[in-house]
Amino acid sequence: MCGIVGYIGKKNCSSFLLDALEKLEYRGYDSAGIAVYNDHKINLIKKKGRISVLRNAVEEDENFDTDDSPFKVGIAHTRWATHGKPSDVNAHPFIGPSGKIAILHNGIIENYIELKKSLKRRNVKFASQTDSEVACALIDTLYDGDFFKAVKDAVNLLEGAFSLCIICADYPNMMIGVKKDTPLIVGYGENENYIASDISAFIGKTKKFCRLGECEIALFKDDSVNFYDFNGKKIKKDVITVDWNIKSSSKDGFDCFTMKEIMEQPSAVRDTITPHIKNSGIDIPELNSLPDDINKIYIVACGSAYHVGALVKYSFEKIAKITTIVDLASEFRYRSPVIDEHTLVIIISQSGETADSLAALRESKNRGAKTLAVVNVVGSSIAAEADYVIYTWAGPEIGVATTKALSAQLSIMYLVVLYISKKRGVISDLAMKKYIQNLLTLPDYILQMLECKDKVFEISKRYMDRDNIFFIGRGIDYAVCREGSLKFKELSYLHSEAYAAGELKHGTISLVEDGTLVIAVLTDKKLFEKTLSNICEVQARGASCFAVVREDKVSEFDVGVDDIITIPKVPSIFLPSLSVIPLQFFAYYSALLHERDIDKPRNLAKSVTVE
Ligand code: G6P
Repeated sequence: MCGIVGYIGKKNCSSFLLDALEKLEYRGYDSAGIAVYNDHKINLIKKKGRISVLRNAVEEDENFDTDDSPFKVGIAHTRWATHGKPSDVNAHPFIGPSGKIAILHNGIIENYIELKKSLKRRNVKFASQTDSEVACALIDTLYDGDFFKAVKDAVNLLEGAFSLCIICADYPNMMIGVKKDTPLIVGYGENENYIASDISAFIGKTKKFCRLGECEIALFKDDSVNFYDFNGKKIKKDVITVDWNIKSSSKDGFDCFTMKEIMEQPSAVRDTITPHIKNSGIDIPELNSLPDDINKIYIVACGSAYHVGALVKYSFEKIAKITTIVDLASEFRYRSPVIDEHTLVIIISQSGETADSLAALRESKNRGAKTLAVVNVVGSSIAAEADYVIYTWAGPEIGVATTKALSAQLSIMYLVVLYISKKRGVISDLAMKKYIQNLLTLPDYILQMLECKDKVFEISKRYMDRDNIFFIGRGIDYAVCREGSLKFKELSYLHSEAYAAGELKHGTISLVEDGTLVIAVLTDKKLFEKTLSNICEVQARGASCFAVVREDKVSEFDVGVDDIITIPKVPSIFLPSLSVIPLQFFAYYSALLHERDIDKPRNLAKSVTVE
């Protein structure tokens, strides 16, 4: 979703800002803009469409970066439309009526209609349909020469979620950042400092960051940064170091990030599990103080992270023998979930910023549950607020549709299952030892599984004319199908549905006809024959079938399907880490064949920081 970036320092400001915006492109956007202090005023350009359009306009404009004041300051934004359609006028930054204040906003200001009415009564004119312009006008109207005070007073009148970044034509050496409910991060450089909605904007510039907390203000002056609460009281903040390198945020020879990230899954899994396996046992110090009397687990997440929950539910029930409920964060937060201090709520999130997941975390804490965050982005809001945090080490994930972060989440969740099984005394030492040995070899199996890439490309070519696909499976295979179907829809923009194979006959089978493609996943030994019967049923109605089958069952596969991809033999709990891979490739190649924007699918955002 919207990307914010700000710069204050001695170098070429607009070039830093445009480069940083490109690094934030993956979040998803429809327009972009930049405002830079130059020659006693604020110069602004904003454009619907890609950052390249904005870059060309800035490069042709003589009013950018000609200023000779010691510090250069500017802000830039990528917008993902919420209030008002994508257009030049609705794009950020906004400049207030006096022409002195420029702001960027991420989030939703809930009381903007009321504020707009009251500002209109004071003859303030609005050009856009956005809530953000209202925030800008509010700060501008409160400005009487004291920049910091105007911002502080304004944020106390705003309701909703907002990250703001603001500059003022009277203060060429100042920039202000404000955070409430949507992320904002300060980066510390050499004689220059930055602010952005996520760390990716500064990769290659600094490894030192500070994450703004709830209702906090960052005041950048010359080369210093100080922090305040919304009452204007100074606060101290810790600096965190994040060791993400440039290579991990570049395509590194691949045509797009999504394929690079699919291929990086072995290392994402290895880097995530290795720190937690010591002396052939599981070591998760982050969970040392988890109470012994946990009797229920809730896994709450969005998108693919929710599917990780759906996948590991089977293992929690089978191995840890604990009631496990999986819920969508957007549903959970508005229900009345039955949770208490004996419930562990696990929030899974790549970004650690997903608004619904964050709200679900807060709701769980309010209800007294213990909360565990499984996140990829160090120091993110969900990590900061949960009782316990375990990181996945997938590195920066740029492709909007997640692949390697999902694999890393799955692998760490296997460890959490085993850890809780041991804590509950329901797993033998021998079984534990075997699981750990197998888990350590999982990255190699994933590497082997990636070899199906070319074969899946051929399969995708054969079915590229199909625009309605069913993914079927039972048990854990059904959960894999849901992820496969989501990936297919996200990347290819074609319709698909995942169905529990046993449910087909209760309605959906009426949609199966000559030429329908059914993708069946059969890795669960116990359910093999059952799903096989479902394949026969759809084939009898004219469907083509592409099956993902465990290696040791292929010989029994006598019904004859059109295409088969085999899965190496690993313990059943780890099978989803392998069976999801051909489905990722299928989604990828279907999108490629339809010439989709694979890294940045239309309408989607990587980090969904609004409801
Ligand atoms: C977006 C992404 C998905 C992701 C979901 C949850 O929809 O496109 O790939 O699974 O958000 O994001 P999170 O950061 O919480 O894992």
